[in-house]
Amino acid sequence: MMHLAQFLVHGPTYHSLAMWRHPRTAAAGYDWARPELYQHIARVCEAAKFDMLFFADLNYVSDTYTGSLGPALRNATQVPEHDPIPLLSFMAAVTGHIGLGATYSVSHQHPFHAARLWATLDHLTRGRAAWNVVTTLNHNQSANFGEELRPTDERYDRAHEFIEVCRKLWESWDEDAVVMDRAAGIFADPDKVRRIEHAGRYFKSRGPLNVVRSPQNGPAILQAGTSPKGREFAARYADAVFAIQPHLESAKALYEDINRRVVEAGRQPRACKLLFGVQPILGTSRAEALDKQATHNALVPLEGGLAILSGHLDFDLSALPLDTVMAHRTEAKLQRMQSRYRSMTGDLLTLEQVARNHGQAVGLPQFVGTAADVADQLEAYFDFVGGDGFMLSPIDCPGAIEQFADLVVPELQRRGRFREDYTGRTQRDHLLQDN
Ligand SMILES: Cc1cc2nc3c(=O)[nH]c(=O)nc-3n(C[C@H](O)[C@H](O)[C@H](O)COP(=O)(O)O)c2cc1C
Repeated sequence: MMHLAQFLVHGPTYHSLAMWRHPRTAAAGYDWARPELYQHIARVCEAAKFDMLFFADLNYVSDTYTGSLGPALRNATQVPEHDPIPLLSFMAAVTGHIGLGATYSVSHQHPFHAARLWATLDHLTRGRAAWNVVTTLNHNQSANFGEELRPTDERYDRAHEFIEVCRKLWESWDEDAVVMDRAAGIFADPDKVRRIEHAGRYFKSRGPLNVVRSPQNGPAILQAGTSPKGREFAARYADAVFAIQPHLESAKALYEDINRRVVEAGRQPRACKLLFGVQPILGTSRAEALDKQATHNALVPLEGGLAILSGHLDFDLSALPLDTVMAHRTEAKLQRMQSRYRSMTGDLLTLEQVARNHGQAVGLPQFVGTAADVADQLEAYFDFVGGDGFMLSPIDCPGAIEQFADLVVPELQRRGRFREDYTGRTQRDHLLQDN
């Protein structure tokens, strides 16, 4: 059985830089800043029994490409991006089962603030909150908080302590601490609420939290990041990982590695689910779907692709000729990024081709065809890799989300590959439904 999550951004573009100007998006009267849009998407995805809605979040307008803000602003390279967290409450108000996830970096705030925010969200959503714990992508974001971007390993060391402090705070109230004994005049039992007295390498916090224990005892934890430290972090804490792996062999290797690390960390096998990013492109016929793919991909401007790629890499690509093969450069991060972009025959792509692809889907594979074709492709990927599910990213909004829910979900259900109904109520219940 697959798990399905809907990828969202509180902004005009997701993985597709063409989304905001796609004719179907325009025809739908798309207004990405209207909260009712997200309530509609939440209802659609809950009716389709998705595990969760998931917001990415970036806190910068990138000037990495050419040193100017122009390319990012002209092309809406995941810019603007409003804060997704207030939207979780909006979406929770019109739904009762679907998980509600958002990204929140641990690199800029104090853990007390995060622990309080996420425990409150877990209460408001009645146990459906999920926090994607990230450590920040680039210097543009760090600069907005008056900081320098720290090396990856150090960011993760800090993230470990951050989560440990949050966990202590979430556990600072026993489950039965609130007694509400009106006759005796006792609201909470003082023996069941403790200070945490944390004094570590990066943080100090006295505790206790001033939020009572939440339904999931803190939110479900998500992670996105594939460095060795990132994987270790996922193995220790995460209930699910969002991964971008267009190539089946690397997806399988990642799946096996995370599952091995989860067991080594002393957790139950399959306690952490891998959700692989996919961009579905559906048509009533295969020809129509291929046509839709061509129209969509042609709408992505090269400058936008170069700008978003530069931002993600934290590296100004404007000095490199467009026929550069990044794998031939000495910078490790350029080589790593290029390994995502190989042709079907295994050939490396040029910078121009990589930038165009990055603007189309940020490396998510495009699954194209009729509902049956797309279901076939999902099944083939799932069966080769071993599990666990997919993070779906639309090419137009909200049409592509509605189409997947209307056409592909029933097909997967008919094949016995997706739940007919929820069996639990919390985000963790959904992720563990088939364990
Ligand atoms: C699939 C994926 C999605 C990510 N989404 C976000 C995001 O929405 N916001 C963010 O600040 N960082 C995001 N990141 C970056 C992570 O924050 C992570 O800190 C960074 O990639 C470094 O981790 P790594 O070296 O382990 O890959 C994402 C990373 C991946 C792989």
